[in-house]
Amino acid sequence: MLRRAAAALAVPTSTRRPTLASLPLRRIASSATNRPPTLAHPATQPSRTATTTAAVTPLSPWRTHTPAPDASPSTPLVYTFYHDPTATWTYLVVDPDTRHCAVIDSVLDCDPASRTVSTTTADALVAFIHQQHLTVDHILETHAHADHLTAAAYLQLRLSTPADDIDAPSTSPSRVVPIGAHSGMRSTQAHFAQLYDVPAAELDTAFDALYDEGDQVRVGALTGVVWHLPGHTQCSAGYVFGDSVFTGDSVLLPPTGTARADFPLGSPSALFSSTQRLLALAPNVRLFSGHSYPLAGASNLCSATVAQQRALNPHVHDGVDEQGFVKMRSERDQGLSEPRLLHQSLQVNIRAGRLPRGANGQPYFRTPLHAPTVL
Ligand SMILES: [Fe+2]
Repeated sequence: MLRRAAAALAVPTSTRRPTLASLPLRRIASSATNRPPTLAHPATQPSRTATTTAAVTPLSPWRTHTPAPDASPSTPLVYTFYHDPTATWTYLVVDPDTRHCAVIDSVLDCDPASRTVSTTTADALVAFIHQQHLTVDHILETHAHADHLTAAAYLQLRLSTPADDIDAPSTSPSRVVPIGAHSGMRSTQAHFAQLYDVPAAELDTAFDALYDEGDQVRVGALTGVVWHLPGHTQCSAGYVFGDSVFTGDSVLLPPTGTARADFPLGSPSALFSSTQRLLALAPNVRLFSGHSYPLAGASNLCSATVAQQRALNPHVHDGVDEQGFVKMRSERDQGLSEPRLLHQSLQVNIRAGRLPRGANGQPYFRTPLHAPTVL
């Protein structure tokens, strides 16, 4: 089935060979000083071009979820942060005893109209992490997002330097926070590397850890388990910490229901199976979603329990079968337009948050065109 977004994103054929319109980006705004990159990917580090160091107001969590006294072991304290321009949830998954944590699905600010990428939100998240005296053990992605740019590489740069020395040059950080995702990321990278003409060398070491199903992620004394949840994307993962699961876009919240499954390597059938796996968990397990799209006037929502999802999710409530879901999802996806930050997101996210750069060192996004081959 040729679906609309898949067609827009498909690796070009001889009849739809893209021309590249490369537009230079404005420099990355940052509250950090200009200093040389110090981590493991020196050729592809984010720019450090701001001129002054200013106090950054920490992000305020939208909610703080404290584990219940009878919660399963490894259930974390969770701080939730909403990025309004992209409707994205970022999570801090915290071991309350050790104050170690993981960052899940961070965000860079991107304004395509002014061709500006900035770290305002990421800097405020770092300020919150420092304010709370948290130690970040992992920077995790639930998948290669098509609607926002991850701040993973920038956070790695900021958080791998001692907190009391974040604005001083450092050539030997004592600790590098690994960026992790599911190993399906390899397939996603390979597909979009062809579309966006990305050298393999830029992608081979973009992620520090690519997990398989069942792998464990240690956060302080907590143990998270990686679940492969394909469907929305091939590389979609969930991170299961006790009674809390960070699902990414593998199930969304009421009233939205589920995410599109028409991206390359996506599959509505696989998405249904992934949702059923999540909804087979205990009724009290809390599913933290990657996005929230509340109706006008309605309150925002970052999570729902399995019981709530089984009763209220409009797409995968109890009684919906695979055939009905696939028909519904496929029909809906045909009517969806391209995400606003599609090309920017994918080019950055397959690089774990590093910007694409030209031979002159300038950051650019590439926009594949639909055009006659004669041109
Ligand atoms: Fe997504």
